[in-house]
Amino acid sequence: MKKVLAAITTLVMLGSFASCGAVTSPENTGTNTNTPKGDGTKTVGIAMPTKSLERWNRDGEYLKAQFEDAGYKVELKYSDDKTDQQNNDIQSMIADKVDLLLIAAVDGSSLSQTLADAKDAGIAVIAYDRLIMNTDAVSYYVSFDNYTVGKLQGEYVRDALDLDNTSETYNIEFTAGDPADNNAPYFFNGAYDTLKKYIDKGTLKIPSGKTKFEQVATLGWATDTALENMQNTLASYYSDDVQLDVALCSNDSTARGVTQAISSDYKGKNSPIVTGQDGDITNLKNIVDGKQSMTVYKNVNEEASVTLEVSKAVLAGQTPDASLLNSVTVEAAYDTESYNNGVKVVPSYLLVPYVITKDNLDLLVDTGLYKWDANKKYLESTAETT
Ligand code: BGC
Repeated sequence: MKKVLAAITTLVMLGSFASCGAVTSPENTGTNTNTPKGDGTKTVGIAMPTKSLERWNRDGEYLKAQFEDAGYKVELKYSDDKTDQQNNDIQSMIADKVDLLLIAAVDGSSLSQTLADAKDAGIAVIAYDRLIMNTDAVSYYVSFDNYTVGKLQGEYVRDALDLDNTSETYNIEFTAGDPADNNAPYFFNGAYDTLKKYIDKGTLKIPSGKTKFEQVATLGWATDTALENMQNTLASYYSDDVQLDVALCSNDSTARGVTQAISSDYKGKNSPIVTGQDGDITNLKNIVDGKQSMTVYKNVNEEASVTLEVSKAVLAGQTPDASLLNSVTVEAAYDTESYNNGVKVVPSYLLVPYVITKDNLDLLVDTGLYKWDANKKYLESTAETT
């Protein structure tokens, strides 16, 4: 029975990720077509954290497709969200003599020794999406403005409840991300800082009293953990008389757990506001169905194209700076102040996130990465498996 279940689970996983599987020449990448292509001799090693969270499947495939289109060989590895495995994966790419490493770290603080080895081997490292901490071996960071992601979630709540003008009080609970992910506190702080003045005024109340990132962090960004945490919070602090108005979730994988907990365990009659991030297909469906209110969207195909441009320059022995952004059509900022990894301030290219609700889902269709299903009700991915 276990085997049958495992087989079914695998099929379901394959099915759900097929839609974000290998892509053929993504369009609208924003890549500079004037930059000389690779000549097929250089290999880029890409270390992604896990296949079990939807977005990294998309990142891996977009990166692979774009680098291959640009004339580079690609070695792509997923580390099952395990720190040791990611260290081993990177070591094996160093042994394979890749020319450049792109790393989305499982645990940003646990790669120092491995990256020292990369440096000794003369391999440059670019931190992809998540900053890598405590190392001088990382040359650049390509991500989104992570603090703004949380700020957009907070502002959404502020506007939805008209917090500047209301005389009501509302109850809110926070669900944050993985403490090993350097992005997670940025998301939480962006949201919390935006809402703090309403919390201080008493317009927003937090019945659980959990106001600190550490109290609401979710190991591995796991949906099941977020579900369990929210079930506990509902059981301990909410009753027929205490209504939950807002579940501020840092991303879509945690929002799925929180939404499930609200469906199964919440006794109130209202539909709490639920925030998210990423535009995962299930969450976009939940947005259409009114179970989630918004998601902060980050176009990871564009993140891949900025990464490609930075990589091309590094591989050509150049030192990319703000002027690199002249060669991409993607909106992004060059930041040499915000991301200190404990050893150095890592020069960063930060793309711009934006809010998606049920009213502007067409913006996702405009990216070319999503399309409406046959009934024009839900969105699906346009990625084709090869
Ligand atoms: C990414 C988010 C993602 C989270 C979990 C973060 O580092 O920036 O987009 O939701 O990891 O995968």
